[in-house]
Amino acid sequence: MAEKNTNFNLPKEVLFYGRTLPEYLKMFDLDLSIWKDGKVLDCPAGPASFVEEARQRGLDVVGCDPAYTDELQLIINKGNLDIDETIKFSSQYLQLFSQKFYVSLEDMRQYAKLALRSFVDSYIMGKQQKYYIQASLPNLPFSNQSFDLVLSGNFLFIYSDLSNKNLQSFDYQFHKKAVLELLRVCKKEVRIFPVPCIQGELHKYVKNLLADLETQELVVELTPVEYEVFKGGNLMLRLIKRINC
Ligand SMILES: C[S@@+](CC[C@H](N)C(=O)[O-])C[C@H]1O[C@@H](n2cnc3c(N)ncnc32)[C@H](O)[C@@H]1O
Repeated sequence: MAEKNTNFNLPKEVLFYGRTLPEYLKMFDLDLSIWKDGKVLDCPAGPASFVEEARQRGLDVVGCDPAYTDELQLIINKGNLDIDETIKFSSQYLQLFSQKFYVSLEDMRQYAKLALRSFVDSYIMGKQQKYYIQASLPNLPFSNQSFDLVLSGNFLFIYSDLSNKNLQSFDYQFHKKAVLELLRVCKKEVRIFPVPCIQGELHKYVKNLLADLETQELVVELTPVEYEVFKGGNLMLRLIKRINC
């Protein structure tokens, strides 16, 4: 059983770390103009500023995350703490650090701080206007096909029982249910980043999932993107629905 963060009631191993719109554009190879008349879900959105920044550009975007409680100060504390945790963790693997997006870890930290600040500034309004919604995979509070595009970054495949013995609940069944749930609430396309692939070998759960999804009416694409923190970590999964009915 994963150890819980007492304030969030979430596994403390899953970092509450968020990214900005420019990072999202590269991670998901996104052209916002294509989705300007559609609805977009970011799940989990964490303390990312994508939702707010995209909304400021006129897009209809909703973010959900289990950490979206009413206790803003806890969220701010956790966000700051997890930026430090992420940078500390990343500094152990400097030899693998790619400068494709960030010039340095300090640069990466500055992006995360920007994201957190913008997220926090918009949080109360976002909760009131219901574009920040507290929700967890694999059960989302949205009806079928509510969103044209569903984005899921830096959660699935990264946190699993394979990589951390404290994350037993994030086993293959969890991953499969989570992806099926993202597909259920989506009308057109789900994008998941990153898809771990080590020395040409896809993550075991990605392979299992692709086999299990074969019976679904989907076009499946694995696309290298321009966003990369560690060398080789730049694969994005696109699940495109063939039939929009
Ligand atoms: C690293 S953040 C990713 C945020 C954002 N997508 C990004 O790329 O910047 C991971 C998020 O997963 C959330 N999380 C933890 N358990 C979850 C669950 N069961 N379902 C959905 N999200 C979960 C955490 O609260 C955290 O905010």
